[in-house]
Amino acid sequence: MYAQLVKSEGKSKAELTPEDHAFQARIDAGEKIEPKEWMPEGYRKTLIRQIGQHAHSEIVGQLPEGNWITRAPTLERKQILLAKVQDEAGHGLYLYCAAETLGVSRDELLEKLHSGDMKYSSIFNYPTLTWADMGAVGWLVDGAAIMNQVPLQRTSYGPYSRAMIRICKEESFHQRQGYAIMMKMANGTPEQKQMAQDALNRLWYPSLMMFGPSDKDSVHSVQSMAWKIKMNTNDELRQKFVDQTVPQAEYLGLTVPDPNLKWNEEKGGYDFSEPDWDEFFNVIKGNGPCNKERLGARVKAWDDGAWYREAMVAHAKKKAARRTVAAE
Ligand SMILES: [Fe+2]
Ligand SMILES: [Fe+2]
Repeated sequence: MYAQLVKSEGKSKAELTPEDHAFQARIDAGEKIEPKEWMPEGYRKTLIRQIGQHAHSEIVGQLPEGNWITRAPTLERKQILLAKVQDEAGHGLYLYCAAETLGVSRDELLEKLHSGDMKYSSIFNYPTLTWADMGAVGWLVDGAAIMNQVPLQRTSYGPYSRAMIRICKEESFHQRQGYAIMMKMANGTPEQKQMAQDALNRLWYPSLMMFGPSDKDSVHSVQSMAWKIKMNTNDELRQKFVDQTVPQAEYLGLTVPDPNLKWNEEKGGYDFSEPDWDEFFNVIKGNGPCNKERLGARVKAWDDGAWYREAMVAHAKKKAARRTVAAE
């Protein structure tokens, strides 16, 4: 999801130093790069942006679902949704920590999120209107996230790849809980089935957008792929997602809202319509249905938490002072 926004900071061939070549050789040999080791500035910057945007997506992604915790239809659904939303907070934490190993602070990253300098996944700027959306979000949005993140378990930066391993385990639970909701709705009353169909209709194309612009418009992926920061192209992942998801929709008895969707025997995958890329870029620019609300909620949470952060710092200072006195 974050991949859609990442630009690489590659050099031209002539500018490469012996260190750059040695670094690339380590990556080609499948070695992991660890925090204190030498790395090209572009690698570090691209990773900070990618991991930071990924972290922001996790915590902003809590908002559309957190909104449904009080309205979940049963106690069991409420517990499951609570657990999922908490998992997303955990994902945010692992990822901010991974970004911090690259020499940026969490405060700096959050400041950039709040000022609009850094983005989060466009999908979270769409509203969640009914309970069926909780099903469709888990099924499609977490499903697309898994598609993106499973290959990133093999990414070249050690802390990022290790964070991904744990995150992917939890994401697959998220995807299944979403599909379980869809099964219940699709096999329920005609009204419930209609709600499930409506959620699929609204979230299908925004989910396809999560993989980022078409490869022909994505000029920044070559360097990122050489560095193994990005493992697949946007179009490859989108195709995989469609191929996996269409049979799941069929199993639910729901219709994917794309008249051009057709199995293509020759390529061994579905042909499908591209999302509306003008809409995508417009949402990224800040003009989606919920951008202001989402960012407003994050800024408010930061401001409301100021007293707590200050208290923690004061407490840590007191403790340190006490330790100094005891040591004297
Ligand atoms: Fe997550
Ligand atoms: Fe998730």
